[in-house]
Amino acid sequence: MRYLTFALAKGRLAKKTLALFEQIGITCEEMKDESTRKLIFVNEELKLKFFLSKATDVPTYVEYGAADIGVVGKDTLLEEGRDLYEMMDLGFGKCRMCVCGPESAREKLMHNELIRVASKYPHIAKDYFYNEKMQTVEIIKLNGSVELAPIVGLSEVIVDIVETGSTLRENGLTILEEICPLSARMVVNQVSLKMEQQRIRNLINALSKLPQYKTERKDGNE
Ligand code: PRP
Repeated sequence: MRYLTFALAKGRLAKKTLALFEQIGITCEEMKDESTRKLIFVNEELKLKFFLSKATDVPTYVEYGAADIGVVGKDTLLEEGRDLYEMMDLGFGKCRMCVCGPESAREKLMHNELIRVASKYPHIAKDYFYNEKMQTVEIIKLNGSVELAPIVGLSEVIVDIVETGSTLRENGLTILEEICPLSARMVVNQVSLKMEQQRIRNLINALSKLPQYKTERKDGNE
């Protein structure tokens, strides 16, 4: 039997993914050692391999088949636009992609003014403003701490992730428009889904039977 390889987005999502897999009997003890510098972890018994990568690289590994399966946020999937199958909403890592800025920028959004939009997600920002709002804007790519942009006068608004809203609040900014809800997704390489159909289906079936996913279907809550 060949190894089934998982690419996980480093950080909180990976931790939650491993906790989820433990619920269906998939464990990887050596991955829990926070001090390790190892990059790839193996479960010999189940013939599984796991590796951690930067979130933005997960769709790349999966599209090229270097990983059969990936777990990554919907924000990254939308931004990267890779060819892969999105198989399951895992329901954690919930947040929203929003247009944010000072209250004073609301007017500018309403009147289709030519404004500057700073974002770590230039494709999502472009798609929203050009294809949904039909508003011509100038998009400026940043790599983090995007909330700074409207404060220091780089842009009128930002397109960014809002989770608790505390970063916005503490910096005098607010949500002006909501673009879409986000959460962690399981994605699969297109060839792997054919070649390893049974193992991948078994994994998804086992996850779907967990109580958190049953409840989600019934009343739409977490
Ligand atoms: C994300 C996002 C916001 C913040 C939102 O930043 O870009 O800045 O979290 O979370 P909140 O609504 O709970 O305050 P992240 O921590 O990933 O850092 P970076 O964007 O500055 O790299």
